[in-house]
Amino acid sequence: MSDRKKLIVDAKQWVEQERVWDDQLYCSKEGKVVIASEAKHSIIAGQIASSGRQTSGNPPRHDSMKAPALMALYEKYKDCVRCPLGPTRIKIVFGVGNPSSEVLFIGEGPGYEEDRRGEPFVGKSGQLLDKMMAAIGLSRQTNAYIANIVKCHPMTDPLTPDARGNDRPPTPEEVATCSPILLQQIAIMKPRAIMTLGSPSTKMILHTKDAITGLRGKMVPFDVDYFYPANTEVEELKISAETREALRQTKVIPTYHPAALLRNPNLKPESWTDLKLLRDLLAKPGA
Ligand code: URA
Repeated sequence: MSDRKKLIVDAKQWVEQERVWDDQLYCSKEGKVVIASEAKHSIIAGQIASSGRQTSGNPPRHDSMKAPALMALYEKYKDCVRCPLGPTRIKIVFGVGNPSSEVLFIGEGPGYEEDRRGEPFVGKSGQLLDKMMAAIGLSRQTNAYIANIVKCHPMTDPLTPDARGNDRPPTPEEVATCSPILLQQIAIMKPRAIMTLGSPSTKMILHTKDAITGLRGKMVPFDVDYFYPANTEVEELKISAETREALRQTKVIPTYHPAALLRNPNLKPESWTDLKLLRDLLAKPGA
């Protein structure tokens, strides 16, 4: 492609992405404008409140077993102190959304706001994530689920828990200790698609050290046999043949973390490309 043509393609992508995301920031409910992330929704599994916005994705195929299974998992881990993040957290941030949805978004770990609210992605990057999801007909209130690789707030200085800007990425040890919770969430939900948000979750889910820039823009099969080895002795990672078969169909679509998009808006068009990949996958009939 010539430089001029590429410039035009890039510019079109920009305009499309800005128009779609901004149009979707608000969902109108009975004439009232509501910021999507402020609508009421369940923290873990229970009642899914209406977002007021009709989504264009597939309606979740309700599976009555998934919500209670996730709830039981939450109960099992809600007081977890298996790693040093446990004793310093305010609230465990287990996940939010519809357990029967076809898509699971995975971030890295709770920040200041999330620690206080017990819900993932409720700060500035969460508002952007809600816009991104809304642009392809998804919301945490109806047909998507959001979780993190670690469930408690990683702080640079745990002695100053009230300081802002005290967030840090989880260490490999924290990820290793906490990731069985996420893997159990995945085994319960059996999502058709996993969208990883940013480097730590992409590296974990694709078990690679490669940078996000080289991994995004693609759809990769979820490596079920790597995460749940057939002969594992680890009780938490034992799955049924049916679950294994379902997870063989799961596709991983990595993209940038919303916080990276806030820092560098030039990345937005690429992340819009990734969202469209997800949208197109969900538009195809499921297995
Ligand atoms: N960033 C994340 O990765 N997860 C959250 O829950 C919030 C911010």
